[in-house]
Amino acid sequence: DWTTGNVIDEQVAAIRELVGDKRAICGLSGGVDSAVAAALVQKAIGSQLTCVYVDHGLMRKGETEQVEKDFVAATGVQLKVVDAEKRFLDALKGVSDPEEKRKIIGREFIRVFEQAQAEIIADEGPAVEFLVQGTLYPDVVESGGGTGTANIKSHHNVGGLPEDLEFQLIEPLRKLFKDEVRMVGQELGLPEEIVQRQPFPGPGLGIRIVGEVTKERLDLLREADAIAREELTAAGLDRDIWQCPVVLLADVRSVGVQGDGRTYGHPIVLRPVSSEDAMTADWSRLPYEVLGKISTRITNEVRDVNRVVLDVTSKPPGTIEWE
Ligand code: XMP
Repeated sequence: DWTTGNVIDEQVAAIRELVGDKRAICGLSGGVDSAVAAALVQKAIGSQLTCVYVDHGLMRKGETEQVEKDFVAATGVQLKVVDAEKRFLDALKGVSDPEEKRKIIGREFIRVFEQAQAEIIADEGPAVEFLVQGTLYPDVVESGGGTGTANIKSHHNVGGLPEDLEFQLIEPLRKLFKDEVRMVGQELGLPEEIVQRQPFPGPGLGIRIVGEVTKERLDLLREADAIAREELTAAGLDRDIWQCPVVLLADVRSVGVQGDGRTYGHPIVLRPVSSEDAMTADWSRLPYEVLGKISTRITNEVRDVNRVVLDVTSKPPGTIEWE
């Protein structure tokens, strides 16, 4: 029988057996998956786990603070924060191809972990041999690791791993769908704000800029995304939608009229979707007033953006993310 209690007991026993007296590290992304994976592993091996939060500079506004405050407060987990923004931006310089971006981000992510591992060993002695990842069943399937489906995108936490990987992976959520992960998180005592968080991709805003990723573009997208999230929350729509990627079409410009005259700025795409498990999705029929408010605020408040467009494509044929 499938119950969250069984899943937790099984995983806890298996993880204890596997890890023994070694150490593990777990990357926290700020999302539900890594938080639940970390909480599960912490239940199994306690202080043998160290969580690492890589600030790759591709996070949304306020996200780093949320991980540092909310998650640590909820779990008491040992957390190391690595500021790697410059490293990621340097590696992404001049790159526009989506798969290339995903591979670079995945590769750099692991390298930063290896560095963190070395530092943790220097601090604490025993070897860190295990890496915990919040890989879900849909990630496994879409990366060709499951039954049937061909490789659609290389998810950074499955397909983008470098060949010189030094860790053994622990993926306690590999057989679960998102709603099941939320139930497990709840059972583990994680707070509502973490368990009910909408999904956010590991490569972050790096795959929500169509074109080259630069600091300036990231700052602009962060502002637009913060406005959209603020208005969706204010309208009480968070639980009605699965997630709402906000995408910057950095390589596209269109003519606008703003303030005193003609502008030639970038469009922002709103991609609100409803879904059960992200394998398929429908575009959300958001109220026009809410869409209008988001559009007005973004074009008023975000420099260089003069147009807001709505993505009305279901999945398939469109994926949820644009890259
Ligand atoms: P797509 O765009 O494939 O997205 O329809 C399906 C779901 O997965 C999320 N996503 C990712 N999550 N690493 C992740 O952890 C990734 O590389 C990644 N790419 C997409 C996406 O936000 C959606 O919820």
